[in-house]
Amino acid sequence: MRSLQRGVLAGVSALALAGCATTGVASAPPPSSSASSTAVPIEPAQPSWAARDAEMDAFLDDLIGRMTLEEKVGQLTLLTSDWESTGPTMREGYQQDIAAGRVGSIFNAYTADYTRELQRMAVEGTRLKIPLLFGYDVIHGHRTIFPISLGEAASWDMDAVEKSARVSAAEASAEGIHWTFSPMVDVSRDARWGRVSEGAGEDVYLGSKVAKARVHGYQGDDLRAVDTVLATAKHFAAYGAAQAGRDYHTVDISERTLRDVYLPPFKAAVDEGVATFMTSFNEYDGVPASGSKFLLTDVLRDEWGFDGFVVTDYTSINEMVPHGYAKDLEQAGEQALNAGVDMDMQGAVFMENMVKSVEEGRVSQANIDRAVRRVLEMKYRLGLFEDPYRYADEARQEATLYKPEFLEAARDVARKSMVLLKNDGNVLPLAANAERIAVIGPLGDSKTDMIGSWSAAGDRETRPVTVLEGMKAHAGNGVTVQYAKGASYEFGDEGKTDGFAEAVALAKSSDVVVAVMGEKWDMTGEAASRTSLDLPGNQQALLEQLVATGKPVVLVMMSGRPNSITWANDNVPAILHAWYPGTQGGHAVADVLFGDYNPSGKLPITFPINVGQAPIHYDMKNTGRPIELGEPGAKYVSRYLNTPNDPLYRFGYGLSYTTFGYSPATLSASSMGPTSSITATATITNTGTRAGEEVVQLYVRDLVGSVTRPVQELKGFEKIALQPGESRTVSFTLRPEDLAFTRADMSHGWEPGEYRLWIAPSSGAKASTPVTFTLTE
Ligand code: BGC
Repeated sequence: MRSLQRGVLAGVSALALAGCATTGVASAPPPSSSASSTAVPIEPAQPSWAARDAEMDAFLDDLIGRMTLEEKVGQLTLLTSDWESTGPTMREGYQQDIAAGRVGSIFNAYTADYTRELQRMAVEGTRLKIPLLFGYDVIHGHRTIFPISLGEAASWDMDAVEKSARVSAAEASAEGIHWTFSPMVDVSRDARWGRVSEGAGEDVYLGSKVAKARVHGYQGDDLRAVDTVLATAKHFAAYGAAQAGRDYHTVDISERTLRDVYLPPFKAAVDEGVATFMTSFNEYDGVPASGSKFLLTDVLRDEWGFDGFVVTDYTSINEMVPHGYAKDLEQAGEQALNAGVDMDMQGAVFMENMVKSVEEGRVSQANIDRAVRRVLEMKYRLGLFEDPYRYADEARQEATLYKPEFLEAARDVARKSMVLLKNDGNVLPLAANAERIAVIGPLGDSKTDMIGSWSAAGDRETRPVTVLEGMKAHAGNGVTVQYAKGASYEFGDEGKTDGFAEAVALAKSSDVVVAVMGEKWDMTGEAASRTSLDLPGNQQALLEQLVATGKPVVLVMMSGRPNSITWANDNVPAILHAWYPGTQGGHAVADVLFGDYNPSGKLPITFPINVGQAPIHYDMKNTGRPIELGEPGAKYVSRYLNTPNDPLYRFGYGLSYTTFGYSPATLSASSMGPTSSITATATITNTGTRAGEEVVQLYVRDLVGSVTRPVQELKGFEKIALQPGESRTVSFTLRPEDLAFTRADMSHGWEPGEYRLWIAPSSGAKASTPVTFTLTE
């Protein structure tokens, strides 16, 4: 037993901890409390649900006082039903566990009647009648599936992102679910990692905004409302920094990078009042996250004042043994609980070992009671002690699932998520005289793929609208839309050509080809890392043959990660990235291709030229030998011999069917002091002939720091709608604290000095002329 891990919080009463949001019980001051006048304190959050409630405290004091140690450990245990594999029948062992009070929460169980049945076992079968909490991975929709999370982030439309979470909560809660394991707020900069599809991309600022929108969408303003669910900020922390993009792999980053890049979206979720946190599978600084007192107590509780409960990721306590951090499960459980874990997901480590650990003094009663109280508080705040069945309501379920307005919202968010990457010669929108349209490719008529991975209770078989179906439904009289699959996206099918002849013949007899290609739905998501970002299977070869027909080709990409589509960029006139667009995806693609919706998405993640550039992100450091310092082709600068440094498509990039002009940015002043602010303004004009939306982006560079600073950082954005010829002035106000980072002495704050600023349509801004300002002490 590592002595530092033990009894860290012993002596701090559970109540003091539960109420630490305002006062904080940290024994050591957070790094932000530097004496410097430029330090920016990290304010502890105070969500409305965390307000103290004397009645609740008295109720829980009484309840916890009557619980046996075994019953307490039961409340710290989360187990899956086997709904996913065999339908609504729990394995016998689980039923016994529920009836014996050995499990306090269940996941992967839903529908009003099934959750009611399980709830009845808990409240009628157990001594203390403590209700179960039902959790589930409701990630981008529950029944009505929205675009994958990365796609939603590409909308840069926080109302749309929040709407998706709101609809998800309404549907999930109507089926008895209290708690979603979402949002995933892991920043990820490596396209090889399959889970880039589940987050908001590579950026700290955009990721933090999306985190807030999602938490608010799920939880609303009232945890007690039956149409809201508890949200989970996951995976804490730095899971997206897995070495070489291989899932579950080691993470080895500095504390500065952790604090400046990976933690801010989690802090944003806490500020928005997120109710729960989930640990990550990876280690941080040599310690598995589920055993990290630094992450789970020092940062999360003491610095940030988080007041909800922490669940582990799936069996991640058990995994502390193969990590080589615990000698056995008993020790792993002790390390996790003492570090700050409250609930064990699926590993049954607490269930099997914790009573002994407490009895033998390696875990204190106080630590157990603290965790139990956090879990029971959430059950209380949801109103489950008043009515354990309040979410399991068949009538509400009947009235809620797949409401027409939800389907319409899914279609709208899908349209907004799509990014137009190329449109030479205005191939798009499709010309009115395109009478014969060929839809070709393995993703052109595939219901299964439309909803991507982590699609919760989404129906993959019947409900999703494919691109072919959407195009057919949309095409006017006299337009024919025909389909040929042509190619395969399966690994191993590279050499096959069996479908090519039919597809090429169809292309030749058509006016335009819509090639729908990309990755199979489960090639991104968990445990779906790749060392190639190319189109899998024989799609590339078919694409080349389609282009060779001389017919105009539009490539619609469906994928959950950036792919290296360099050949397509060089040879295909139009490319639309559609992610996995969800239940209504085919309609949404048709809306964009036919021009009923003018695309407005921008990339939330950099698209590399090839996999060798990964990890790549727009906010890199300059290095001592930036490529711009040398003549083109100079050797001793930071570059590759065979590939440019610049990516294929930049973060923040995306085209529209119209064009936008940007005036030079102006500043309200040339300097600002510690208590003032500065406003940057530019005028954006729709210089084309169609109405459209533009995401106006603000980037800043801190030229010299006590540690090196990124070449640019997103500090603001606004999505505006403009009619043809219309202009709008967009302003961003910056305060010194917006420029704070982890300084050389590890304090959080800003530094005086010179800054560059751009208002621009993408992160390509760094090549354009900036305005400069000074920040004075
Ligand atoms: C994933 C989590 C998920 C959990 C429960 C894990 O494998 O990493 O994101 O919430 O399973 O399904």
